[in-house]
Amino acid sequence: MSSQIHVEADAAALAQRVAQDFATLAASASATKPFCVALSGGSTPKLLFSLLAQHYQDSIPWAHVHLFWVDERCVPATHRSSNYAMTKAALLDHVPLKAENIHRMAGELPPAEAAAQYEQMLQHFFKCAQDEAPSFHLMLLGMGTDGHVASLFPGNVALREQDRLVVAVEEPSAQPPQRLSLTMPVLIAARRTWFLVAGADKQKLLRSVLGNAAHVANKYPAARAHISVREPVWYIDQAAQGG
Ligand code: 6PG
Repeated sequence: MSSQIHVEADAAALAQRVAQDFATLAASASATKPFCVALSGGSTPKLLFSLLAQHYQDSIPWAHVHLFWVDERCVPATHRSSNYAMTKAALLDHVPLKAENIHRMAGELPPAEAAAQYEQMLQHFFKCAQDEAPSFHLMLLGMGTDGHVASLFPGNVALREQDRLVVAVEEPSAQPPQRLSLTMPVLIAARRTWFLVAGADKQKLLRSVLGNAAHVANKYPAARAHISVREPVWYIDQAAQGG
């Protein structure tokens, strides 16, 4: 496994760098080769989405971009905690994405039903064989201060899921505690994985995850993902780096 780390001055510069790299990657999308990306929620992606909306309306072939979600909170799509709602306000309302290319998780449904529905949609869209995980072109992940990625939290049973593509997660430490999440096998199957991490509150954890990943892989889902995905790329700001 070879990984890359890009250090930017602050969260805004980090989002700018990721927006540029995103645009470069998405540029080759076409009708026959759509660009399929799974998005995370959180503060750093929100900045990224706003930049994409402001500066990349015309330069990204949005008609050939398909958006999926890494995780979702079990709330209605208009709720202030909804990852979809955040993405809609920051990005979807401003770029010429086709409605049928936006594949949101149904946070408003009973969680088990929403997870099963999203799994079926993924299997159908990616034409997955039985026991095969879809291969996203890009997986955008964040890292929580407890080391979670997607909605896979330390010690949570969802982390051990090997067969399902999508799970309903109950995590008392999370707000809100009911989540939907892609599973670790799906995160690992992506062609590219970018981790976006900003802020001094992530500094100690980040040092541990990047410096000692194999040793802390059982403790922190972010470390498990780091050692398991293909060529992870970390976009971090100086505060998270400790510089
Ligand atoms: C969510 C996210 C989650 C996020 C991390 C980091 O819905 O909560 O998808 O996994 O990426 O919590 O979030 P920040 O970038 O805001 O710290």
